[in-house]
Amino acid sequence: MNLVVTGGAGFIGSHLVEFLVKQNQAVTVLDNLKNGNVDNLKNIRKDIEFHNIDILNYTSLQKILSKCDCVFHHAALTSVSDSLDRPKEYHEVNVSGTENILKLAKECGFKVIFASSASVYGNPEKIPIKEDATRKPLNPYGLSKLNAEDLCKKYSELGVSVMGLRYFNVYGPRQNKNYAGVITKFIDNALDAKPLLINGDGSQVRDFVFVNDVANANFLAMKSKTNHGFINIGSGVATSIKELAEMIMELSDLQFGPTYGNLMEGDIRFSQANIDLAKELLDWKPKTMLKEWLKENIKNH
Ligand SMILES: NC(=O)c1ccc[n+]([C@@H]2O[C@H](COP(=O)([O-])OP(=O)(O)OC[C@H]3O[C@@H](n4cnc5c(N)ncnc54)[C@H](O)[C@@H]3O)[C@@H](O)[C@H]2O)c1
Repeated sequence: MNLVVTGGAGFIGSHLVEFLVKQNQAVTVLDNLKNGNVDNLKNIRKDIEFHNIDILNYTSLQKILSKCDCVFHHAALTSVSDSLDRPKEYHEVNVSGTENILKLAKECGFKVIFASSASVYGNPEKIPIKEDATRKPLNPYGLSKLNAEDLCKKYSELGVSVMGLRYFNVYGPRQNKNYAGVITKFIDNALDAKPLLINGDGSQVRDFVFVNDVANANFLAMKSKTNHGFINIGSGVATSIKELAEMIMELSDLQFGPTYGNLMEGDIRFSQANIDLAKELLDWKPKTMLKEWLKENIKNH
């Protein structure tokens, strides 16, 4: 199989590339290195092909994608707060960029696994969230993922084999420091013996899923014969930000409490996945649980 990972020099993409190489697959990475880094690929650099290409450049994409079997489309702009300042740019990369991949899939016949996001749901009416819940994103980033999902649906109706995985909060090594998720920020502060900064009162709830589990879901989605539209990929477990801070403070023996700041604009209050569909259709379930991972990682520092 010839596999392509767009955004493969980024956080999730680079873990997926490593995962696919371990499965003895031929992997090509496309990334314009805007937020990614080739260092993220250093463990497997000699086993892969890398192209510094922008997904908005259709002609360059065409040359590389014409002979592939499956594209794992992860290239995107991913910061909720930046998207509030630069909504047009987010639309261009995340929506028009996705359409380029889908057009080529129609032309060349490859399968697409699209990295969607729980941000399409906005603040859900009830948790755990099922895939058929209303989609009402709270920020331009979430809206760009919703628009890209709609394009996936349109191209699926035109015969393209495409599946969207809606990731919840993905954690693990190598998150971009500028846009790092709350787990990376909390651990960095705890290891530097600085107080953890909680936005709001910490009662907001998240579903944290480990990056290798996300990579495995992509692999299973590629192999799957089903072409079901969109599937939640989360742990199925709800953790409040306050609980997360307490776990990290206890594991790192911090002798002082957290500090509290303002809630971020466009932030979701409750997020927890119902993962029954992923279990049923992909035979997938998360293998790494947050508390165990935190214990291992904080202990080994
Ligand atoms: N991290 C999460 O918790 C999370 C949750 C839901 C969905 N996702 C989605 O998963 C995917 C990967 O996210 P991530 O956290 O690894 O982000 P990331 O920023 O680490 O990776 C995105 C990669 O895309 C590349 N890129 C950006 N614009 C590009 C362009 N125009 N052409 C080519 N490459 C470009 C960046 O350089 C980067 O390497 C994204 O589509 C994101 O929306 C992530």
